[in-house]
Amino acid sequence: MPGRQPHPFEDRRSGDGGGCPIPRRSFLRGALGGAAAAAAANFVPAGVAHAQGTDYQDDYNKLATEDSTHSIPFYGATQAGIATPPQTAADFLAFDVTAPSRRELIDLLHTLTERAAFLTKGGAPPPPPRAGKPSEHRLLLGATVVPDDLTVTVALGASLFDDRYGLASRKPAQLKTMRPFAHDDLDPKLTHGDLLVQLCANHRDTVGNAMLDILGQTSGGMRLRWRIQAFRFPPRPVGIPRDWMGFKDGITNPNTNDAAQMNQQVWVQRGRREPAWTAGGTYQAVRIIQMHMEKWDTVPVERQERIFGRRKLSGAPLYATDPNASDELDPVYTNDPQGRLTPLNCHIRLANPQTPQTAATSSILRRSYQYDQSPDVSGQPNLGHTFCCFQQQLNTYIAMQRRLEKESLVPYITPRGGGYFFAVPGVRDARDYYASGLLRGLTR
Ligand code: HEM
Repeated sequence: MPGRQPHPFEDRRSGDGGGCPIPRRSFLRGALGGAAAAAAANFVPAGVAHAQGTDYQDDYNKLATEDSTHSIPFYGATQAGIATPPQTAADFLAFDVTAPSRRELIDLLHTLTERAAFLTKGGAPPPPPRAGKPSEHRLLLGATVVPDDLTVTVALGASLFDDRYGLASRKPAQLKTMRPFAHDDLDPKLTHGDLLVQLCANHRDTVGNAMLDILGQTSGGMRLRWRIQAFRFPPRPVGIPRDWMGFKDGITNPNTNDAAQMNQQVWVQRGRREPAWTAGGTYQAVRIIQMHMEKWDTVPVERQERIFGRRKLSGAPLYATDPNASDELDPVYTNDPQGRLTPLNCHIRLANPQTPQTAATSSILRRSYQYDQSPDVSGQPNLGHTFCCFQQQLNTYIAMQRRLEKESLVPYITPRGGGYFFAVPGVRDARDYYASGLLRGLTR
């Protein structure tokens, strides 16, 4: 159709539908600024407006601020909390939906939308939206609710598409219940869920307030199944934060300022063998991975570096021996087919082997956090990784995780829970609500 404007989520790929390796780099180092990239692709990633003339990507790992008045735009074609830089405090809340009918499910999604729209913008609490609901005047954040860069990201689990609400024919094509991988020891009390709410903000109290608000206002429609309280450490000394194991974590990622890359790797596109309503959404995988620190701490640093495939202090690839080497250096394996320098079974090389055969399954958007649920049943520290990633195809994550079943990190971690979800497209404006496209045209 001549002159037609492409839809922001229209598949722009030509030909074979995938496999073309894209240069991956950190969120931080996009060649284009957010606004320029967005204009180039007729697409505005949620949260870019917040950048206000700075390179937002440079703030990626240091967003937390004492000024809690910042807000990340709630309305948009995609949800915030995915391409927006990770805040330091988070809660992952998985729910069983208890709404007795489709009508009540729609009411629940409306309520969730209202609460998220209000909490992310902040202001004086309005009267409760439904009669008999709990007061919002808990003053936890002071007289007015501060936005504090809160994001509320809603995703749906495969179980919501069972026969309760008649949604099976509209299920995202690749969404399914997470099956255990080799070495998983999944706790049913920490696994799956009909609906996931990911809350992220600059401060713990903001996340807590949002959690209490949402739990109170939606209590008839969904019940908390599991929750992980999560956080990101401040970067030491600068740049990328470290995980509990002491490594800089989150270096290599798609560039969220590059709309074309995001449309290819993260956002579901129209016409991609997915139901039309899913365009602008993305598959979310969450894995609650316990780290066995008592064992890890006995491993010499040189060996730890060969387990991850990067230098511990600098975060640089293993070919860099200078302790001040930049973590921006890309790992390169072309001259190391035997894995003498970067072992073939190290974490980064199995996650992304840089081979033509694995090019289509080597890029995911990681947005992970740490957790502390100490002590565990045996009185040991219970520390771990709230691994979270987003990708256009769930199969990308699954293929990568299968490769990692053989990684040398295995003895030091145990996956305990999590699940697969579909993060729904953004709420477009004040008349829209979460997953409206999913329910459009169905009788209430
Ligand atoms: C306890 C669990 C995990 C820890 C501690 C961990 C830690 C790390 C670290 C330190 C790096 C290197 C720095 C970086 O690029 O961020 C890394 C890279 C990476 N990780 Fe993980 N990770 C974990 C689980 C996972 C899982 C479950 C996946 C996916 C299935 C994954 C996928 C990746 C990818 C794709 C990279 C970048 C590879 C590259 O292109 O160089 N990680 N991870």
